[in-house]
Amino acid sequence: MKSKSDTFHIPVDRRRFFKSMFVASAGFTLPGYLAEALTLSPTVTQGPYYPLASNIPLDKDNDLVQLNDQLTLASGVITYVSGRVLDASGNPVRGALVELWHADHQGDYLYSASATRNPACDSAFAGFGQFLTGNRGAFLFRTIKAGLYVGRTRHFHWGVTLPGRTTRATTQTFWNETAIDTSGRTWSTQNSNDNVFSTIPDAAQRASVLLDYVAVPGTTTGEVQATWDYVSGFSPSEPTYPNGGSLIVSGSPVPSTTGASDRFRIRVPAYSGYTYEVYANPTLADLAWASIPFSVSASGSVDRHKHTATADGSLDLYLDQKAVKGFYYVSFRVPGANTGTP
Ligand SMILES: [Fe+2]
Repeated sequence: MKSKSDTFHIPVDRRRFFKSMFVASAGFTLPGYLAEALTLSPTVTQGPYYPLASNIPLDKDNDLVQLNDQLTLASGVITYVSGRVLDASGNPVRGALVELWHADHQGDYLYSASATRNPACDSAFAGFGQFLTGNRGAFLFRTIKAGLYVGRTRHFHWGVTLPGRTTRATTQTFWNETAIDTSGRTWSTQNSNDNVFSTIPDAAQRASVLLDYVAVPGTTTGEVQATWDYVSGFSPSEPTYPNGGSLIVSGSPVPSTTGASDRFRIRVPAYSGYTYEVYANPTLADLAWASIPFSVSASGSVDRHKHTATADGSLDLYLDQKAVKGFYYVSFRVPGANTGTP
């Protein structure tokens, strides 16, 4: 079945989607922008609410406001965040996986200790989204203003995985405002005494995750937006040949020709003699990828964990296992280097 997440787009408000992208792009030319971007994003705790495989929504696209194709939208102030993933030199990073998760408008995460979706969480709120950056390193999310919960100031959680890295960097962004709860009272935990924000030691790094949200031009419904760049201290391992490397790729569902459920096809640029392996893991705890078997044809048996390309060009690999987080990690090794089967 084809879901909204497979197409990775926002089915509603398309015009505003592009308008917002335009606004974000215009901001990239502002003086001083690069100087600001070169402050490395601080690494802070992932926190306890990164969704589990058992409670993550099937809909994982960059629109957290609309879950699947439900007509009801998430409650809260519609909020756009756009920006880029950059390396320390300011170069845009292509193929970076950006993940966003945060509390609903009342402060409830979709995670619960029972490992099922938290029933207290707004049922129309996706709670988690992701975006794979393109050539310009840009990402965009539509979500809602995060709610407040005891012990924390208002914040978003972010995970960024660079191509070639097997660990996810995590950070958080904050609102440059006084946090007011839903009853109109000043919240007990503000940025100044939040145990995450206030413990980022570097003032420039703190400033880099303190976002100003402004009204989306042309809207009268209270929608707001902010731009934010994630600046990594690591350089991506470019998946270039002739070296070995890795790619993060999405899978496309393809109809089964054997009567079983859908398979997932991933397509990678391949070179003759290079050996390819596919990894994914439902928990993705620290991206602890597990090798998964695949077939090199749509109807063939899923019988291998590695495959050595025999020709240059596009290589299709077919998997029975859908990556719970929507993406697969493909590693490739130089000819002759692959001696072990994972
Ligand atoms: Fe949190």
